[in-house]
Amino acid sequence: MLDAGGQYCHLIARRVREMGVYADVQPSETDGYKLADRRGIIISGGPASVYEPGSPTADPEIFSLGVPVLGICYGMQLMAHLIPGGKVTKGVKGEYGLATLKVTAQDRLFDNFQAVSEVWMSHRDRVGQPPEDFEITATTEACPVAAIANDWRNLFGIQFHPEVVHTQGGKILLGNFLFGIAGCTQDWDPTRQIEDIEDEIRRTARGRKVFFFASGGVDSTVAFSLCLKALGKERVHAAYVDTGLMREGESEFVREVFTRMAGDSFEVVDARAEFLSKLAGVVEPEAKRKIIGEEFVAVQQRVLESGHFLDSAWILGQGTIYPDTIESGGTAKAEVIKTHHNRVAGIQKLIEEGRLVEPLAQLYKDEVRQVGRTIGLPDELLDRHPFPGPGLAIRCLCTNKAEAAIKVDGEVVLPVLSVGVQGDSRTYRLTLALDQYSEAAFATATESINLNQEVNRVVALVAGKLPLSEFRSTVSAIDQVRLERLRRCDAIVRRLSTDSGFEEKIWQFPVVLLPCGGEGIPDSVVLRPIDSVDGMTAKAVPMPEVLLRQMTEELLAVPGIAAVFFDLTNKPPATIEWE
Ligand code: XMP
Repeated sequence: MLDAGGQYCHLIARRVREMGVYADVQPSETDGYKLADRRGIIISGGPASVYEPGSPTADPEIFSLGVPVLGICYGMQLMAHLIPGGKVTKGVKGEYGLATLKVTAQDRLFDNFQAVSEVWMSHRDRVGQPPEDFEITATTEACPVAAIANDWRNLFGIQFHPEVVHTQGGKILLGNFLFGIAGCTQDWDPTRQIEDIEDEIRRTARGRKVFFFASGGVDSTVAFSLCLKALGKERVHAAYVDTGLMREGESEFVREVFTRMAGDSFEVVDARAEFLSKLAGVVEPEAKRKIIGEEFVAVQQRVLESGHFLDSAWILGQGTIYPDTIESGGTAKAEVIKTHHNRVAGIQKLIEEGRLVEPLAQLYKDEVRQVGRTIGLPDELLDRHPFPGPGLAIRCLCTNKAEAAIKVDGEVVLPVLSVGVQGDSRTYRLTLALDQYSEAAFATATESINLNQEVNRVVALVAGKLPLSEFRSTVSAIDQVRLERLRRCDAIVRRLSTDSGFEEKIWQFPVVLLPCGGEGIPDSVVLRPIDSVDGMTAKAVPMPEVLLRQMTEELLAVPGIAAVFFDLTNKPPATIEWE
């Protein structure tokens, strides 16, 4: 996989691996001669335009190696740009979403592919003219050159995205390239890597011991168990910092799983009181994150020092996975949307000294799960949704103002700010509230936000104990009572969404506590189920009506809760978390 745009590239590589073929990601500019022994090369899509200075390019040599090449989206445009005779047309209006593809020349890539099908498009530029000796093999209405091929030279380009589920026959097409054209064999199975990974752990450790900070997340747990398997209990240690900001039952669950695995090689560091006292009265999201980050660093440093883990007998183990290992090509992140945890000085030192083992560095998330399953970790642990490091703190919204809901042109705006991301920048704005939940409202949420500079989110009231216009914000920070309230609500949502099977259908389901309500009922709950691939973008997902009603009824019974809202906003313009 030649990387012309980070996340797009990883999605394709993941699909290829899912089909049983090993793929790894290299910078798009990789020298052609280094790729001569590959079975096939795929150039990924990406957000750039081939004409922009500094945009990802490729070594034209790759087209003369005799190795089959498939260019996808930007990858195809790059082919047209680099191979003589081709032309890329700068787009004025993009083509985003489903399009009807007509195959006009049934070449090997389109074997068993329907003559007319629905495909997923996402592009602005397009190929205006294919290179010399290429033919146009498919078209859509908005994109006359939707696929090109020089079958004899094994070069193929497609403008649409076979890697997304919305493209009919996407898998057939990828399979045609991998097996029919490139002659790959179906021999990649991540679970067969386990022995090699264990060997690698032993080689890296070279007689030393491995220390982990466990989070209870999938990656660090699987990485830890592999080290445990490779080195034995005497040579591993895991510490779990209980911040008090975790979901109901979470710390107990982590304790149980790790104690069963590692016995005395596992410790829980109780830092609950420290975190709570440092967060008292803090309202602003970045301030909360900063405090949590600093506190984490302080506790971790203390653990490292008191356990003598900085001594030369120890190295650090981490659950870093493949996408984090690879630096995405040319897409320098412009602005930090949210601060991430500071790095502990001690950890920094270990990394700089190369005293680091990352057993999962070559695997994707799904592969990590497969490996975890094979080595006997419980499904309950492997199938959980991602949960942010700062925990419930970023779902427990705070405010230092007591204000009434604002009424503008018959619309109600809730007087609480939350974080969003618009035009690649962080925003901190109010929330528009609709007085009724309906599936139709999802479609118009982004438009409402575009029309109102003051807001970055739209929620719908599912049910409440007072009319929307009477809602007020209450001065609130993170405290024991509100954390407990949120924890209860979160547990209700998790139980009902798991039991109903809804949890499996979505990527993540944050539950947010909003300091907005009425007399004696100061908070509201916001439900935020979303679908996503990697958290970079997300779609708000509607919920089955029966489940929503049942959930709402239970949530309204929690003391202190005034209403249940549903977040209708995609990311962008909102973020997944409210902060
Ligand atoms: P946002 O809110 O930025 O979230 O749309 C994107 C994804 O990242 C998760 N998230 C975090 N994960 N530490 C983490 O490990 C963090 O500080 C953090 N902040 C957000 C969030 O839950 C979502 O999946």
